[in-house]
Amino acid sequence: MLNLGILISGRGSNMESILNYLRENRTVDICPKIIISSKPEAEGLRRASKFGIPTRVVYNDSKGWDYDSEIVNVLQEYNVNPENGLVCLAGYMRLLSPEFVQKYKMRILNIHPSLLPSFPGLNSQKKALDYGVKVTGCTVHFVDEGLDSGPIIAQKHVLVSDNDTCETLSDRILEQEHILYPYCVQLFSKNRISIQGRKVIVN
Ligand code: GRF
Repeated sequence: MLNLGILISGRGSNMESILNYLRENRTVDICPKIIISSKPEAEGLRRASKFGIPTRVVYNDSKGWDYDSEIVNVLQEYNVNPENGLVCLAGYMRLLSPEFVQKYKMRILNIHPSLLPSFPGLNSQKKALDYGVKVTGCTVHFVDEGLDSGPIIAQKHVLVSDNDTCETLSDRILEQEHILYPYCVQLFSKNRISIQGRKVIVN
């Protein structure tokens, strides 16, 4: 059994898509243990309460490992450990410290709204529109010490149309995110992912 912790900062729709998937697919061996938000006002906290999963807010001025060690303490309080756990970042707006990444090495996933390595960081949908790409999408990747730079597990593409606005494009990407993230979590839980250097192999 894999113990899951999800880190959010806002809306929490990707968190919800994972929790819905786990509720509908009881054979998947993952137990969601704790939702942690870096923001007290995160809408995702309300969404999480519908699932009856414990939530916690870690909101203070600490930085780097000082902050992340508080997150790790909460994860471990709920038995989400490097040996038995998976941590999913779902709209989590903080960069992780190297200490956190090393502690949960290759056990932290993130979803990003572009086809990485294009358009890392914030406002990826706007950057894609402004650049004029014809295809963008979303990426689930392992988290390493860099910004949206870890090994890529899977991607889904979305076509950009001439009359797209940032909002219409973001909505279509989000629809694909909600399919891609649960799929990758499920792959991880079934040990179907192996890593060779930067390359992720799905068995
Ligand atoms: C998503 O677009 C995700 O790709 C990005 O932040 C957004 C979070 O949305 N990392 P939500 O909080 O999951 O609704």
